[in-house]
Parts: sequence; structure tokens; C-alpha cells
Amino acid sequence: MRAMREQTNDEAIEEAAALLARSRHVVALAGAGMSKESGIPTFRGEGGLWTTRPDGSGGEPPMNQYQTFAADPTRWWQRRLQEPPGDFANAIDSAQPNPGHLALAELETLGVLAHLISQNVDDLHRRAGQRSLTEIHGNRHWMRCMMCGMRWPRQEFPVDPERLPPTCPQTGCLGIVKSDTVMFGEAIPPHALRRCEEETWAADCFMTVGTSAVVYPAAQYPQQAAHRGIPLIEVNPEQTPLTDLATIVVRLPSGEALPRIVQSVRRRLAPAKSAESAEGTGDIDASAQA
Ligand code: APR
Repeated sequence: MRAMREQTNDEAIEEAAALLARSRHVVALAGAGMSKESGIPTFRGEGGLWTTRPDGSGGEPPMNQYQTFAADPTRWWQRRLQEPPGDFANAIDSAQPNPGHLALAELETLGVLAHLISQNVDDLHRRAGQRSLTEIHGNRHWMRCMMCGMRWPRQEFPVDPERLPPTCPQTGCLGIVKSDTVMFGEAIPPHALRRCEEETWAADCFMTVGTSAVVYPAAQYPQQAAHRGIPLIEVNPEQTPLTDLATIVVRLPSGEALPRIVQSVRRRLAPAKSAESAEGTGDIDASAQA
């Protein structure tokens, strides 16, 4: 359902806002592009962490990270505690939510965005105030038991280097505890998958923001929605495999596009809201409404 004619970004923003304002169950999928304006590099594309550089460095990490961990979790934890955090970890630890994150949180507060699926492990959506949120690849600031799935904020689960690997304190569990981040080769926790599927089925409008949409299962949700005839909004400065399925395409950075979309949504909701409040105070002549 590719947009029939090329639209200016101004037109696309207004059309996206109109669609969002009249939708009942909006679901969004966010990716690394959301956090680029917070100083965290993306994975792919220009300047991406895994984009191979001219000197041959870079490139995707080994896909068996999880198997390496599971084979010797003690050794994995020893190395994790000894090695200084890398550039990516430092970028995450010093990052702040940007206007794009705040705009998505406001869309939730306005009652427009029903649920956000984030592929990012940087905690920025949560810190921006997003509540209806599935972090499908986990969260770098949390820990998780591999057995019972129990999660803790990292600061509430100190790791004792003398007692590795850390184990779950839940009665009768003793599962091994790891970072909540989903490693390559690791299955995504079933409750997270279930929630993403439920929300995608309930969606009457789907928006993707800052994702290259090439990593599964996350990339399947906007596709499933579009194939069901649900309108798809894509916010991304670059073309992606989803572009041809999109109804509306905004080719701008999310930190610029989302606040403008929310401003227009707010404007469109205002009349309905003031009518509601006027009704509440009996100002409106009820008979005129009938
Ligand atoms: N605003 C919006 N989008 C942007 C911006 C920006 N300021 N800057 C770049 N982008 C877009 C790029 O055009 C690209 O399409 O963000 C996308 C980032 O793509 P990826 O780096 O592939 O990130 P993502 O889609 O989140 O990757 C999915 O892959 O490697 C795994 O676990 C990792 O969660 C990640 C998953």
C-alpha cells in the first residue's frame, strides 16, 4: 500500500497525525535510529556499529554469543567483570532520552499510542516515561534469571565476583542470572513475544520508527499488520524493506519528525477534548447534540 504519490514531509506529517488521531489501537516498533540523536550509534547503515569500515574492521558480531555464555557462564562473568565497558556500553550509560522518545511517551499519555515494541536495550523509552512497553531485546540496565525469567534493575542485583555465576534468589529456583539483554543465539522470552503478537493483532494502525526492519522476529510485526490491511507509517530518513508496504513515509530523523507529529495530533484532539469537558460541565445544550 505504498503511498500513491510522493509526499512532502510536511504533508506526510499531517497525514500521519490525522491517521493517529482517529485510530483506536496504535502500536509502534522502534529501533536504533530512535537513539542516534541521543549519541548511541545504530548497528547498520552509515556509521553503524556493525558496518564494515574501510580498514576492514567492524562487521556483525559472532552469532553464537549465547552458546558461548551457556557453555561457561562463570568464565563469561569473570571476563565481563574484568573488562572495561566498550564504547557502545559507555554511549548507552551516558545517553539521555531525546525529543523523539519524549514524543512517543506523550502519544501514550494522550491515549493515542497503545503499545510500543522497542528493539533498543538502552532504557531510554522507559526513562522518557513510556509505560506500555515491550523491550523485545531486553534492557541493559536489568538482570534476568534464565530459569524463571525473574528480572531486577541492575542496581538491585549486585554481582559478587567471588560467587560466580550469580544465581536466582527465588525459592527453589537457583537459575543462572545474566544481563537482561537478549544475546545473539538466545531465544526471546516467551512473555515478550506473546505481548508483541497480541498487540500487533489488536492494532488498527502501526508505526515504525528508526528501524532497518531486517531483524526477526521484530520485523515481522509491521509486515503482519500491513498484510492485514492495517495502515503503516514509516519514520526513517532512509528507505527500508518496509517502505513498499507503508501508507505514509516520513523521511526525517525521529527527533524532528515525532515532536511535529505529536504537535499536530494534540491540535487535532483538542476540539474533541474541549467538547468532552464542556459536556462534563453541561455547557453544551444537550438537545443541540441529539
Ligand atoms: N531517526 C530515525 N531513524 C534513523 C535515524 C534517526 N535520527 N538515524 C538512522 N536511522 C535509521 C537508519 O536509516 C536505519 O534504517 O535507523 C535504522 C537503524 O537500523 P539498524 O542499525 O539496523 O537498527 P535496528 O533496526 O534497531 O536493528 C535491529 O538488530 O542487531 C540487532 O539487536 C540489534 O536491536 C537491534 C536489531
